[in-house]
Amino acid sequence: MLTILGIETSCDETAAAVLEINQDGKCVILSNVVHSQIDEHTPFGGVVPEIAARAHIQLLDGIVDQAMKTANVKYSNLSAVAATAGPGLIGGVIVGLMTAKSIAMAIDKPLIAVNHLEGHALTARMTDQVEFPFLLLLVSGGHTQYLLVKALGEYERLGTTIDDAIGEAFDKTAKLLGLPYPGGPAVEKAAKLGDPTVYKLPRPLLDRPGLDMSFAGLKTAVRTAALKEEPVSEQAVNNLCASFQEAVADVLGKRSARAFELFKDRYPDTPVKMVIAGGVAANEAIRIRLNEVAAEHSAELIAPPHKLCTDNAAMIAWAGAERLRKLVAEDPSILEQNGKGDDMNEAPRPRWPLDKISESVVGFGRKGAKV
Ligand code: KG4
Ligand code: ZN
Repeated sequence: MLTILGIETSCDETAAAVLEINQDGKCVILSNVVHSQIDEHTPFGGVVPEIAARAHIQLLDGIVDQAMKTANVKYSNLSAVAATAGPGLIGGVIVGLMTAKSIAMAIDKPLIAVNHLEGHALTARMTDQVEFPFLLLLVSGGHTQYLLVKALGEYERLGTTIDDAIGEAFDKTAKLLGLPYPGGPAVEKAAKLGDPTVYKLPRPLLDRPGLDMSFAGLKTAVRTAALKEEPVSEQAVNNLCASFQEAVADVLGKRSARAFELFKDRYPDTPVKMVIAGGVAANEAIRIRLNEVAAEHSAELIAPPHKLCTDNAAMIAWAGAERLRKLVAEDPSILEQNGKGDDMNEAPRPRWPLDKISESVVGFGRKGAKV
């Protein structure tokens, strides 16, 4: 049995969690504490990296303490400490990784440096025991990508946004229409009262092959349409939100259809599965569209519980546990030998693509990087 402390600080959530993983690989989440810094960033309409880093410093010790107390686990009983080592806002990543290193050093247990994206990628294995290989659609404030999750440590990026992340596009659209931050829920609420057919907005890049996406032009089209309406009535805001959301759902629907076909080509004998993760996956209209497309392509759509597919530390602890299990299988002594074979020397990284082969895309960055 493994007991793992996970720490996540790569954006605007300060989070710690403790997991217990049994011999058969089943996981019990003993605690999962997430402090969202929304209140700190709301006045600025987006995440401010400097404020985030300071808040992580102030909050993290207390959050880790709370996670350990809730789990009722002693530090000396931990098997390992896992922390996000990137990609993300570097100030926050430094705070989390250094805290994790200090704890690991103090209790003489291995440190596992986790790629934040790997945390998202493997969550559905914790919640739904999803077998490899599967597709992952990650749609958050900082990331928008299709990944092929082939095996532990084997990821292929099939497509990504070439500019704004989808959540970022929701947030910026909300801001320009005078709606509150975070924009996603506000746009979704307004869209429910609007007519999606009123404005003809673009579906960028859909005419191109592959799975790349672009959302900056869509947001600009909303701005142009809004400027024509000045002063923008409440109904016009609702219609713009509905039209924007419809365009995003269209893009994701068409791209997902292509992802399903690509999966079938690669793995003709494997059932097609796609996991959706990230804050935008909470959007009902997008979920409905993805479910329709999945049904048309005989694919299964798996959506882990919302609080486990937005940023949290349970997913980091789980990814750490999967990695640790592999390391222990190779060398059982790693659990007794801190600093030998573990990630104590890993540096915090602002960028860290899961797919080491695909080139990184210009403009693809974490939420807040442009604030
Ligand atoms: O995964 P997440 O909680 O955090 C990070 O990106 O780190 O995602 C937050 C993003 C925000 O941009 C927010 O506007 C968006 O997810 N979001 C939504 C909805 N709820 C949150 N976007 C569309 N519809 C929603 N219901
Ligand atoms: Zn994330």
